[in-house]
Amino acid sequence: MVLLIPEGYLIRKAKEEDIDGVIYINSVTLPEHYTTSFYTSILLSNPDTFLVAEHEGRIIGYHMGRIEYGLALRGFPKFVKKGHVISIAVLKEHRRKGVGTMLLKTALEEFTKKGCEVSFLEVRVSNEPAINLYKKMGYEIVDKITGYYSDGEDAFVMEKNLETNLI
Ligand SMILES: CC(C)(COP(=O)(O)OP(=O)(O)OC[C@H]1O[C@@H](n2cnc3c(N)ncnc32)[C@H](O)[C@@H]1OP(=O)(O)O)[C@@H](O)C(=O)NCCC(=O)NCCS
Repeated sequence: MVLLIPEGYLIRKAKEEDIDGVIYINSVTLPEHYTTSFYTSILLSNPDTFLVAEHEGRIIGYHMGRIEYGLALRGFPKFVKKGHVISIAVLKEHRRKGVGTMLLKTALEEFTKKGCEVSFLEVRVSNEPAINLYKKMGYEIVDKITGYYSDGEDAFVMEKNLETNLI
């Protein structure tokens, strides 16, 4: 799967040799970091929703997602298959060109193909760019977790229905 988007960007599934590039992007864009073995385990267990964005042969963005099971947070409480957006980031110089949107759109298509009923994520309450991106993609704020992050910041939990919502 390779998806070409304007201005020479492409979205494709990640490979093990991309992990160093993903770790670099994560280190310069987000305060939440993970061990190499965590990235590898997500890639091996959820290869279709671990995506990278490339520009001129270099990785400039990624989406790391995992299929989980749990309660849907909206509507009648029921146990569902969920697509969890664990982490998404684009290098600063490549932002506002639609790369984040295409990474997320591609991941949502994969979650849907795999039978997920909802997608969800946690986001810092101060992270306006990301919250705007998620709202634009149809996510709604469904919960707030006090002190979720290690520095004490709260998180919004956002959820999107994949059954009724066309992407
Ligand atoms: C969030 C992030 C992935 C968005 O990536 P991107 O490639 O710039 O996103 P897009 O160009 O597809 O933008 C999609 C929408 O997001 C919103 N958005 C993106 N950047 C924004 C900004 N700086 N301010 C306000 N809204 C913004 C807008 O609604 C935008 O649509 P528009 O351009 O039509 O107005 C990027 O800002 C990023 O890597 N941030 C740091 C890492 C991060 O916070 N990840 C999320 C963790 S939960």
